[in-house]
Amino acid sequence: MATTMRTMREILARGPVMPILTIADASVAGDLARALVAGGVSTFEVVLRTQGALDALKAMVAAAPEASIGVGTLLTAADVSRAQDAGAAFGVSPGLTRDLAQAVRSCGLPFIPGVATASEIMQAREFGFREMKLFPANVSGGVAWLQAMGPVFPDVVFCPTGGIKPADIPAFLAEPNCTTVGGSWVVPKDKLAAKDWAGIEKLARQAAAFARA
Ligand code: 3PG
Repeated sequence: MATTMRTMREILARGPVMPILTIADASVAGDLARALVAGGVSTFEVVLRTQGALDALKAMVAAAPEASIGVGTLLTAADVSRAQDAGAAFGVSPGLTRDLAQAVRSCGLPFIPGVATASEIMQAREFGFREMKLFPANVSGGVAWLQAMGPVFPDVVFCPTGGIKPADIPAFLAEPNCTTVGGSWVVPKDKLAAKDWAGIEKLARQAAAFARA
């Protein structure tokens, strides 16, 4: 289990970039977690898009207990229980349903629902969420979307993800309602397949060095 219980806002505050990890082979997960932490990254998300995702999470929590490691692509209430049982420090979803919101609220797992419109923000706020994932950020309006939503929802902060490359990140982080940017580029498939931990540590260092507004 995660050693420290943090709120979602505190977890997002731990770093400007949150790596999004698709891990098929859980046997590499411990080394991957150590490489990310060695590069200065202490918050990352393992997506529930592979068979091995939850075994990977367990191995990462064991290898890097100081990190906040979440599970993404939670689509159902059952996914929430599985993630929490496996030791997730937080959960992420590309969207939000009533069942999902109730499951998260009843188990107390820190959570960011995905939103892409004003109505979706309003629904997520009704369930009590104030931290949200803007998804898919690149096709939903990106920085201009954050600028448009900021004055309307001054109490909400966003973690944009989806198609964001390193060159785009400073413009996102310059927005006061953008706390953290998510992306898969920190752990490229080829580097993971090659177990290039030094290369991944270098990218993690680059991710951790981005400055917030
Ligand atoms: C997400 O879940 O937000 C995406 O998988 C992020 O991946 P990308 O950085 O490759 O768009």
